[in-house]
Amino acid sequence: MQFPGSLLLSVAAFAGAAAAQGVSTYVNPAVPTGTPIAANYTGPLRPQVHYSPPKGFMNDPNGMFYLNGVFHLYYQYNPTGLGAGNQQRRLHVGEPADRAVPPEERQYVFSGSVVVDANNTSGFFPNQNNGVVAVFTLARYNADGSGGPQTQAIAYSHDEGYTFQYYDQNPVINSTSSHFRDPKVIRHGDAWAMVVAYAQEFAVGIFTSPDLKQWTWASNFTNHGLLGAQYECPNIVKMPVRDRDSGAVVDEKYVITLSAQPGAPLGGSVTQYFIGDFNGTHFSTVDAATRLTDFAKDNYAAQFFYGVEGNPISMGWASNWQYAQQVPTGNNEGWRSAMTLPRVSYLTKAPRIGWTMVDEIYDPEPILGDSLASKTDMGNGSVTVDYADVASGALYVEANVTGIDVAKATSFSTLNLTFASPASGEALRSGFYLGGDNPFFVDRGGLRGFDNVFFTDKFSVADVYYDGAADKSAAWRVQAVLDRSLYEVFVGGGRHAGTVLLYPSQPLTLLTVAARDLPPGAKVSVAVWALKSTWAGLADEQGTVVGNVTAKAPAAARRHMVYEGEFSA
Ligand SMILES: *[C@@H]1O[C@H](CO)[C@@H](O)[C@H](O)[C@H]1NC(C)=O
Ligand SMILES: *[C@@H]1O[C@H](CO)[C@@H](O)[C@H](O)[C@H]1NC(C)=O
Ligand SMILES: *[C@@H]1O[C@H](CO)[C@@H](O)[C@H](O)[C@H]1NC(C)=O
Ligand SMILES: *[C@@H]1O[C@H](CO)[C@@H](O)[C@H](O)[C@H]1NC(C)=O
Ligand SMILES: *[C@@H]1O[C@H](CO)[C@@H](O)[C@H](O)[C@H]1NC(C)=O
Ligand SMILES: *[C@@H]1O[C@H](CO)[C@@H](O)[C@H](O)[C@H]1NC(C)=O
Ligand SMILES: *[C@@H]1O[C@H](CO)[C@@H](O)[C@H](O)[C@H]1NC(C)=O
Ligand SMILES: *[C@@H]1O[C@H](CO)[C@@H](O)[C@H](O)[C@H]1NC(C)=O
Ligand SMILES: *[C@@H]1O[C@H](CO)[C@@H](O)[C@H](O)[C@H]1NC(C)=O
Ligand SMILES: *[C@@H]1O[C@H](CO)[C@@H](O)[C@H](O)[C@H]1NC(C)=O
Repeated sequence: MQFPGSLLLSVAAFAGAAAAQGVSTYVNPAVPTGTPIAANYTGPLRPQVHYSPPKGFMNDPNGMFYLNGVFHLYYQYNPTGLGAGNQQRRLHVGEPADRAVPPEERQYVFSGSVVVDANNTSGFFPNQNNGVVAVFTLARYNADGSGGPQTQAIAYSHDEGYTFQYYDQNPVINSTSSHFRDPKVIRHGDAWAMVVAYAQEFAVGIFTSPDLKQWTWASNFTNHGLLGAQYECPNIVKMPVRDRDSGAVVDEKYVITLSAQPGAPLGGSVTQYFIGDFNGTHFSTVDAATRLTDFAKDNYAAQFFYGVEGNPISMGWASNWQYAQQVPTGNNEGWRSAMTLPRVSYLTKAPRIGWTMVDEIYDPEPILGDSLASKTDMGNGSVTVDYADVASGALYVEANVTGIDVAKATSFSTLNLTFASPASGEALRSGFYLGGDNPFFVDRGGLRGFDNVFFTDKFSVADVYYDGAADKSAAWRVQAVLDRSLYEVFVGGGRHAGTVLLYPSQPLTLLTVAARDLPPGAKVSVAVWALKSTWAGLADEQGTVVGNVTAKAPAAARRHMVYEGEFSA
């Protein structure tokens, strides 16, 4: 599928890595493979600019890499059910490519990552500089359902990730632990470095390798941040540090992101991050703080694309294990879970809060449709947009407030973005209080399409834009994407991001942006665009998205490819 801009995306179930010849992963024989899964992307809850699977249940993004103009995404997938497969959470169901090698029962492919071995360090790639290696967890279960060992394995691809060969000397990291998983590999200097979770011992193991086959333990990053009940999906990425005013790169640091679940502060799943230095074997933090990637609760297990220069780009699983397997898209439309939009990250020192990772929305320009409203001086007024005629039902909204005399802001000084259904009276509310701690809030409690005690109504974050010094004409900014059942907001240019699932009983069709009691002199500009549906462009006359066969297609055809199912030639 096509994502914003030049973000071409090819997707496949992470069976890919394991579907290599000879891989011995167990699969339910009922799982359809070999042909793309046809799907209906027209349901009222189906996101139109976010990735969601054709049918069934999706969870963690996996194996994300960028090569020759294409962003590749794999994911944990159960195409035959609306929850994680069988009795295991996080179970991946896929099918090995080579039926000649009998699948091994009760062994599954769990999350992992992909690197491009441009210099043939692995020796897998004679005569090519675009060899691809997947590094992932093989999780074994015992006959009684108890967990067996989780080990790390590799598979390699000669065709940029469309087909894989299973390495015949796996595992590359052996283990007796049943909670040792989710390897993420980067290139550091002349070596490869891996972070991997000792999930229930609350440690991130750091390993190094010259060739992706021989791995040596180097250090442990232990007991940091929120433990929850286990650590999962660690990532490590090099990130530029930018001056907050000029945007110039002034330094570089590393970031470890670490997902924890269950037991998040808001319930269920959460992702935290740590800023620090990494010398190839050891990670040391710049301070003792724990920071969260998202202020709401529907963004988990995000991964950074391998091979992106400059500001790293990531995508997360836009859900929460507290209700991922109950959300109404399953019974109503036959699918569950979407990925977040791609986010572009850098580090900066924000006023007052200091070190922070900024997550900007990936440039939405290429998916913008008609401009629905544009006002440069709204003041204490409002802008109302009836978007019932927008086929995608998806909007991009920007609002800026500048020239705020902070001393004159009161507890009534507010600017709100409200998305309503006139048919049902439901509304998703969000907005900014400009006085005091400047909280931005999102309230999904006014929607009635999903009743679940863990589906928390309200989220907020304090955006402390004012540093008490020279910043007198402080600016406040929000960018928001509403995509049927998913709302993503970026506050302060991405200083804070919130990912919020929402389930109205009737489609939301009326946007109101309104401000009141702004300090004199405050200027408000608002712009609203319809978003173009990615899926509509792929659908046939019946509205069915057929997808593509899982062979490598010519570059020209790849723009509109949706890869599903088996991942082999
Ligand atoms: C696709 O789903 C929509 C909404 O659920 C439904 O109205 C439509 O008939 C479906 N289309 C096909 C081809 O099944
Ligand atoms: C490959 O080798 C070249 C030349 O030594 C080096 O500049 C480059 O960084 C290497 N690439 C990777 C991914 O290691
Ligand atoms: C890649 O490595 C293998 C094994 O060392 C070697 O046989 C092959 O010649 C190498 N290819 C290149 C292009 O270096
Ligand atoms: C991995 O460890 C297990 C348990 O110690 C052992 O039985 C197995 O032979 C090891 N596998 C390899 C490839 O070393
Ligand atoms: C790293 O942490 C894991 C999990 O606690 C532990 O099993 C392992 O022994 C540690 N490694 C070393 C060398 O301390
Ligand atoms: C990396 O940092 C560790 C801990 O400070 C240190 O022991 C090690 O020597 C460093 N390695 C390099 C290559 O500097
Ligand atoms: C924004 O919403 C809050 C919370 O409901 C409300 O108190 C405030 O008056 C609203 N402001 C505007 C401009 O609608
Ligand atoms: C908004 O209204 C308040 C009082 O109602 C007024 O003092 C203020 O000047 C107005 N702000 C703007 C930007 O017009
Ligand atoms: C908001 O401010 C940003 C940054 O200055 C600018 O790029 C954007 O066009 C503004 N949007 C609106 C609606 O004024
Ligand atoms: C992939 O699918 C799209 C939409 O279904 C279609 O336009 C395109 O021709 C297909 N490409 C290939 C190589 O099958």
